[in-house]
Amino acid sequence: MSALPEASEKRAAVQSMFDRIAPRYDVINRLMTGGLDQRWRRHALAAASVGPGDLVLDLACGTGDLCQQAAALGASVVGADFSREMLRGAVRRGVAAVFVQADAERLPLPAASVDVVTCGFALRNFGSLERAFEEIGRVLRPAGRIALLDVDRPSSRAIAVAHSLYFDRVVPLVGGLLSDREAYRYLPESTAYLPDANELRAGLEKVGLEEIRQQRFLFGAVQLWLGRKGVA
Ligand SMILES: C[S@@+](CC[C@H](N)C(=O)[O-])C[C@H]1O[C@@H](n2cnc3c(N)ncnc32)[C@H](O)[C@@H]1O
Repeated sequence: MSALPEASEKRAAVQSMFDRIAPRYDVINRLMTGGLDQRWRRHALAAASVGPGDLVLDLACGTGDLCQQAAALGASVVGADFSREMLRGAVRRGVAAVFVQADAERLPLPAASVDVVTCGFALRNFGSLERAFEEIGRVLRPAGRIALLDVDRPSSRAIAVAHSLYFDRVVPLVGGLLSDREAYRYLPESTAYLPDANELRAGLEKVGLEEIRQQRFLFGAVQLWLGRKGVA
């Protein structure tokens, strides 16, 4: 049976799921990726040239991994997430950022107010990715940048089989033992919510992004979208 909620229930289901897994979220991430998740976040920030003088909005910031790294690079950081417990984890960590409980599809920020929007492994969780992209396009200033990370499925057949064994079997098993069974079944299955690369690119173009490019890591198990808002 699928662990994916009905479309009408997705928002509430995702929110309560992240509230439940928040306490062990970081430790399980590090364990499951061997620490590579932090390397991908660092790479995303470097690829978007995040640095001093930038105001970064980290969308669906969770427990603040990207926020912490962006702040360490000298940026001012706002982290937004709708899960109170994930945000609690971020605040507890003492990250030098402002955290707001907010829906990525209705951001409490003025138009053209941020230099960079980052997002780590959350695109597939949004109720409406189209709506979240519209918000990204709205809050970015002209020439502002994006760095959006998420999982993906490797293109090579042989690697896809090995990846699926790990991602679809081992991750739910270990996550279920250490945290929440339903949530760690949902996380790999939710990859199905992600549109393919052409559709993602088109979605970003539609909200005014240019110079859009995709990078993939670990044989295509992770994808990063970079781009710049048009200046017109
Ligand atoms: C897989 S976690 C990623 C957290 C963090 N970005 C990271 O890199 O570890 C997904 C996050 O997206 C958040 N999220 C999902 N849908 C959201 C929405 N519509 N608005 C705000 N946050 C959302 C969840 O609460 C959760 O913290």
